[in-house]
Amino acid sequence: MLGSTPCETSVEVDWTRVRESYPAQHPLLNLNNAAVSPPPLVVEQAVIDAFRFIGKNPDVNMWSGLDARLPDLKRQLATLADCSADEIALNRNASEGLSVAIFGIPLSAGDRVLVSPWDYPSALQGWQQRETREGIVVDTVTFDLLASDDEIVAAYSSAIRPVTRVMHLTHMIHWTGRVLPVARLIALARQHGIATIVDAAQSFAQLPISVRLLGCDFFVTSLHKWLGAPVGNGMLVVNRECINGTWPLLAPFDATLDTIDKFDHWNLGTYNSALQAGIEPAIRFHQSIGVTNIHARLSALTRYWIARAADIDGLRIHTPLDTDALGAVSLFSIDGVDAVALEATLRQSFSVHVKYRRVGQLEGLRVSPHIYMNEADLDVFVDALRAAVKDA
Ligand SMILES: Cc1ncc(COP(=O)(O)O)c(C=O)c1O
Repeated sequence: MLGSTPCETSVEVDWTRVRESYPAQHPLLNLNNAAVSPPPLVVEQAVIDAFRFIGKNPDVNMWSGLDARLPDLKRQLATLADCSADEIALNRNASEGLSVAIFGIPLSAGDRVLVSPWDYPSALQGWQQRETREGIVVDTVTFDLLASDDEIVAAYSSAIRPVTRVMHLTHMIHWTGRVLPVARLIALARQHGIATIVDAAQSFAQLPISVRLLGCDFFVTSLHKWLGAPVGNGMLVVNRECINGTWPLLAPFDATLDTIDKFDHWNLGTYNSALQAGIEPAIRFHQSIGVTNIHARLSALTRYWIARAADIDGLRIHTPLDTDALGAVSLFSIDGVDAVALEATLRQSFSVHVKYRRVGQLEGLRVSPHIYMNEADLDVFVDALRAAVKDA
């Protein structure tokens, strides 16, 4: 056993064994796990086995063989997310789930939607399309990512109008790792009869989450970031009461328009069942450590590298650190140092991969370790950063 059940924190996790359970990362030190993370070896193997199994008799082995496990897989995901299995649709990624919600909620010209500049760019583009094509109005709530939770809730609150129909919320902002007070924002939206979409691509499986307690209408995530499922897996949770009224993104094969099935399975056309076969081992692996331990470890790794880099001249951290919500994702910049050039130097001269991110005036390098990494990896990164900054 790697560790505890999801809710236990007392059991010691053997992080060296966790590391050995992943494919070695080379040639780069991979500090961009917020984009996509490597699956544990056991997950990789499950996909290979399933892919070979499919090849022997695709139609039968895929649709009747592998897919027979999907109801049980959904029950396991429902336990992890604390929601009902019949509210879960499996798809390829968070972008797809977001598009289902964005294009599927019936709206009329003049209806208003609240977004923030920090939401995922393709989600913002989706709402922009509806504005152009259908005449809905997209209102942008502005707030500083270092502002307090109270200030952020106040910003959303003052942006609500009588015709606001949807609040689009990002749980953990992918630029800086800031965690928004989504539970409070959802409660606010409900008071006004506003539907809510929660983009949890960065927070699901990284932080303990209960979809039931959040009470949102749409909960969207990828499974290939923090859960460790194979690349190309996503999950959409649609509140039972919203299923009937939401249009599927793709015209469904079956006319089962009042169940969650219209958003997944055959209704997405032919998809890769071998990739889905990797979700179950990913859940088992994740649960053997426990989400509380995972979050604590990721937070500790972030605090570790930031403490070690603290004396670098001009270091600026754009992620709030005085919070229990801190996870693996943070953004930094160095005063007077070009962030694009620094990203390139770290990669070319030191084989360290961090990610340049820019939105509006906020720019810097995003650092996101994963549970297979350790303090020694972060020492390599900070030493490289120190040397690169010295030469800049
Ligand atoms: C907040 C957020 N939403 C959505 C996405 C899109 O996820 P996917 O690549 O799984 O479509 C990402 C990806 O980084 C993200 O960080």
